[in-house]
Amino acid sequence: MGKQDKHTMLFHLFFSVFVLLTAGIHVVQSSSYHHHRPGPSKLFVFGDSYADTGNNPKSVSKSWHPPYGITFPGQPSGRWSDGRVLTDYVASFIGIKSPMPYRWIKFAPKSLSHGINFAYGGTGVFDTLVSQPNMTTQIDFFQQLINSGIYSKRDLNSSVALVSVAGNDYGAYNARNGTAQGLPAFIASVVNQTTLNLKRIHGLGVKKVAVIALLPLGCLPQSTVLSSYQQCNKTQNTAVRFHNLLLKQAVEKLNNETKSPTFILLDLNSAFMSAFDKKNSGNLKFGFGNPLKPCCMGIDASNSCGIVDQSGAKKYKVCKNPKVAFFWDEVHPTQAGWQAVSLSLKSSLNQFV
Ligand SMILES: *[C@@H]1O[C@H](CO)[C@@H](O)[C@H](O)[C@H]1NC(C)=O
Ligand SMILES: *[C@@H]1O[C@H](CO)[C@@H](O)[C@H](O)[C@H]1NC(C)=O
Ligand SMILES: *[C@@H]1O[C@H](CO)[C@@H](O)[C@H](O)[C@H]1NC(C)=O
Ligand SMILES: *[C@@H]1O[C@H](CO)[C@@H](O)[C@H](O)[C@H]1NC(C)=O
Ligand SMILES: *[C@@H]1O[C@H](CO)[C@@H](O)[C@H](O)[C@H]1NC(C)=O
Ligand SMILES: *[C@@H]1O[C@H](CO)[C@@H](O)[C@H](O)[C@H]1NC(C)=O
Repeated sequence: MGKQDKHTMLFHLFFSVFVLLTAGIHVVQSSSYHHHRPGPSKLFVFGDSYADTGNNPKSVSKSWHPPYGITFPGQPSGRWSDGRVLTDYVASFIGIKSPMPYRWIKFAPKSLSHGINFAYGGTGVFDTLVSQPNMTTQIDFFQQLINSGIYSKRDLNSSVALVSVAGNDYGAYNARNGTAQGLPAFIASVVNQTTLNLKRIHGLGVKKVAVIALLPLGCLPQSTVLSSYQQCNKTQNTAVRFHNLLLKQAVEKLNNETKSPTFILLDLNSAFMSAFDKKNSGNLKFGFGNPLKPCCMGIDASNSCGIVDQSGAKKYKVCKNPKVAFFWDEVHPTQAGWQAVSLSLKSSLNQFV
């Protein structure tokens, strides 16, 4: 892989972290006659690498190269992890198959019964450092499909959405040398745009829409590497708390307007923090070691997980057992990490069904 590719991938890795909202929707063809269970039958997914299950192009994305996917499905699948990601656990909680990535629907137009995943790793509500569809464009894709008639109103009425977004907006802000003074206004504009997106998804007929509250960005290995994975960046975590506060207020306002709990906040900040705490509290249910140290990392600072040189030699190393690591690479949890996070989100996810 050339230097160019490597840089593209590094960008990807660094800025492909966040997913905000997820909504699920009922399946079109089957919901009218076969209502197997009371919950939603379809899940529509928007956002970034925390939710993407294979939309990033193979040519530019590390997620399509080893060692991604070694735990599940056993080979790279376009997921930014060793295995399953947030979307897979949310789908499983609802009791449906993980929705098909949008890029494949032209090859399997009949496989839309569980919904569609429109999330692209590296993206945000605004344009980031990757040239993949931002969240507005992802919703445009959804709207075009609805206009083409593939889902009935009734299908949409029994569907939910999941949104994971905004981490990459802040990654891009930093990379563009955004100032500390300008950050509060930028956070407000990110939350405003997110709010518009959530309303739009609901306006298209999706019954309930869940959006992530940002995880502690300052605890990602890309930040903690500076302290040998000992300390989270407090400045970054403070910005995250402000984002989450504004988002919480926006979601409450939206629910006031709809007069029902239509919009659900999935608090990744608390979920990540409690996963990290398990170690300190002696509750080793998931067996994590130092929860801040990633399983897969570059052999030196100029490399990262998944990088190989021109001759194909690996420039990364993988830990023995990803099941005892919380983080997989610089920004993404392992499957075990996502499983722990999903368990923490259970009571919030209950509002989906
Ligand atoms: C999203 O991407 C489209 C297409 O590139 C662009 O026109 C639009 O301005 C972007 N939207 C936002 C909110 O950044
Ligand atoms: C959506 O479903 C609810 C019941 O869950 C029903 O009361 C409502 O009329 C339905 N709306 C549409 C547009 O089908
Ligand atoms: C940001 O600042 C760094 C260091 O001053 C500089 O090298 C880089 O070119 C700047 N990036 C942008 C996008 O302005
Ligand atoms: C966000 O929206 C609110 C209300 O809609 C508005 O008052 C505020 O100026 C907006 N902020 C930004 C930064 O766009
Ligand atoms: C924390 O993050 C901020 C903003 O990205 C950065 O300017 C600062 O140097 C970081 N602090 C430490 C201790 O790494
Ligand atoms: C929601 O509505 C109630 C009563 O209508 C009001 O007291 C409350 O401030 C509203 N909350 C938000 C976040 O708008």
